[in-house]
Amino acid sequence: MSTPWEEAENESLELRLLQEAILLKYGYDFRDYSQASLKRRVHLRMAASSLSTVSEAIHRVLHDPDFFDLLLSDLSINVTEMFRDPEFFRAIRDQVLPQLAGQPFLKIWHAGCATGEEVYTMAVLLYELGILDRAKIFATDINRIVIARASEGVFPIERMRSYTTNYQRAGGKKSFADYYTAHYDSAVIKSFLKKNIIFADHNLVSDAGFGEMDIIVCRNVLIYFNRDLQDRVVKLFSDNLSAGGFLCIGTRESIRFTKASADFETFNRVQRIYKYKRYTTGEKE
Ligand SMILES: C[S@@+](CC[C@H](N)C(=O)[O-])C[C@H]1O[C@@H](n2cnc3c(N)ncnc32)[C@H](O)[C@@H]1O
Repeated sequence: MSTPWEEAENESLELRLLQEAILLKYGYDFRDYSQASLKRRVHLRMAASSLSTVSEAIHRVLHDPDFFDLLLSDLSINVTEMFRDPEFFRAIRDQVLPQLAGQPFLKIWHAGCATGEEVYTMAVLLYELGILDRAKIFATDINRIVIARASEGVFPIERMRSYTTNYQRAGGKKSFADYYTAHYDSAVIKSFLKKNIIFADHNLVSDAGFGEMDIIVCRNVLIYFNRDLQDRVVKLFSDNLSAGGFLCIGTRESIRFTKASADFETFNRVQRIYKYKRYTTGEKE
């Protein structure tokens, strides 16, 4: 009989093997995600699929791609909303976009955008400032299922009430209902908001960026990564921002201890908006 300590050690080995199996079979690298949160998610999937050990989950991952899709959805937590943290979007409206509004062309990347509510929020702000036509928005996520939903732009109608409140708290003065069409129990985002958005699956762990962006929004994603991966991803962002470009992360996240933090100055401390100032860590110097 093994002791509880040995059991725990075995399970942490199994979790590592699970991550190797996912990497070798499907190419997704979860090894630098926060292990406590990953373990919780794997356990939830095991309970939902009536599996009693992580080894059984490894077997299912290797032999059943549908099971892997479920696990991938569990591991990539997709909670989001329109005008999430209204004060953040008020800062984007009042402080960030006015600095860029004079440019002939604007490039914005939403990394880890989940089902896209955050991206359509940005499109509304750009539209209201009269610069949507000059913008190109890259909307990406590791999870191809959620990015497909993002590109559809169809959301449950019952959420529109709280999104309208969020919109107003973020400084919106128009009728929020003008941005969607009600269709049975769905709200369909109007096509003029979609036309400059490119949706793509993209993995921040392994894929390259899209070149010089004016704004990168990556909110509530870094929190799932360990310090080493946060370092690499913030470096990816600094390599893909134009000088003076903005990096926006979640209000519970920080770039302060990452290696590329010296490349940025704080623009809005509370809303975690940083400005890319110089190339201290990359070959761009
Ligand atoms: C909690 S949601 C955040 C959604 C949105 N940014 C917001 O703040 O409302 C986190 C998203 O990050 C995505 N994600 C996790 N790991 C990723 C990675 N390696 N590359 C790209 N996206 C990732 C997940 O699939 C999920 O959709």
